[in-house]
Amino acid sequence: MNSAAFLSWSSQALGRVEAALANWVPADAPAGLGEAMRYSVLDGGKRLRALLVLAAADAAGAKQHPGGEEAALRAACAVELIHAYSLVHDDMPCMDNDILRRGKPTVHVKFGEAQAMLAGDAMQALAFDVLTPDEKPQGRGGVDGRLQAALCRLLARASGQAGMAGGQAIDLASVGSSLDELTLRDMHHRKTGALLRCSVQMGAACGGLQPDSQVWSALTDFGDAIGLAFQIVDDVLDATQESDKLGKTAGKDADANKPTYVSLLGLEGARAESAELLDRALQALARSHLGQDATAKLAALAQRIVHRDY
Ligand code: IPE
Ligand code: IPE
Ligand code: MG
Ligand code: MG
Ligand code: MG
Repeated sequence: MNSAAFLSWSSQALGRVEAALANWVPADAPAGLGEAMRYSVLDGGKRLRALLVLAAADAAGAKQHPGGEEAALRAACAVELIHAYSLVHDDMPCMDNDILRRGKPTVHVKFGEAQAMLAGDAMQALAFDVLTPDEKPQGRGGVDGRLQAALCRLLARASGQAGMAGGQAIDLASVGSSLDELTLRDMHHRKTGALLRCSVQMGAACGGLQPDSQVWSALTDFGDAIGLAFQIVDDVLDATQESDKLGKTAGKDADANKPTYVSLLGLEGARAESAELLDRALQALARSHLGQDATAKLAALAQRIVHRDY
């Protein structure tokens, strides 16, 4: 797939995600909560998780699977809601204490800490609401209840103690200490990798793939590799990029004394690790036997995740 074709697909996909989120995140939630939620999740972010869901869904044949396309759009929005909630809480004074996110003041700076906490809580709940639309009578579209349950299970496991929240707990408990590579890898896999892997798996589920299949396991290996690579690149960018470009405060990890791939392996070591993970991700795609055409968008996203500059 050439880069023009990828750009055309991704801008169309992003348009659908933005429109669906704008429709599903309520402006009229009580007492200003809706405004804080919309501020947190609309008009910002690279939407890489949403794109991974949609690319994996296309690769797995969701267009041919009943309800697959609608389910994929819902899953793309749901993972972005969980991600946005994780960022709002990550930025709060009790965690990373950041004032800039996506080029704007962070949610607690703009709306206060209590509202930021609630906006995160409400977006987490909304993610599962979006995944569970009313079932429609046979032949009338909608998303099959078993697929809804599978998507909820994947997203819940990636968000909770086994995934993002657990990784964030390790992150906070490790301030000021130097972790060995195994522990650091585990932290990164959980706090960031789990949601990226889950994005790929949710897309696969929308195409009707089952967790015991060989294709599923290859796509999971792909998600694991790019999930870890994503956080390593985040660590590198924190140490090398300007705040203006990142839309968030650069240099925070060293200032806060956080163990990262850069503090453990140095810049070159961290970059080499992310390049190695990109190779591993592309090999996993080849192992899926879905074919180069079907997996081209996933391959392009993997390249973007590792070679991005913000
Ligand atoms: C930033 O994620 C937080 C991490 C998990 C490292 P992204 O870089 O995907 O943030 P947005 O969504 O584009 O703002
Ligand atoms: C946060 O990691 C990962 C989340 C679960 C939100 P970071 O703390 O490194 O993310 P940034 O750099 O603030 O975006
Ligand atoms: Mg953090
Ligand atoms: Mg942070
Ligand atoms: Mg970071």
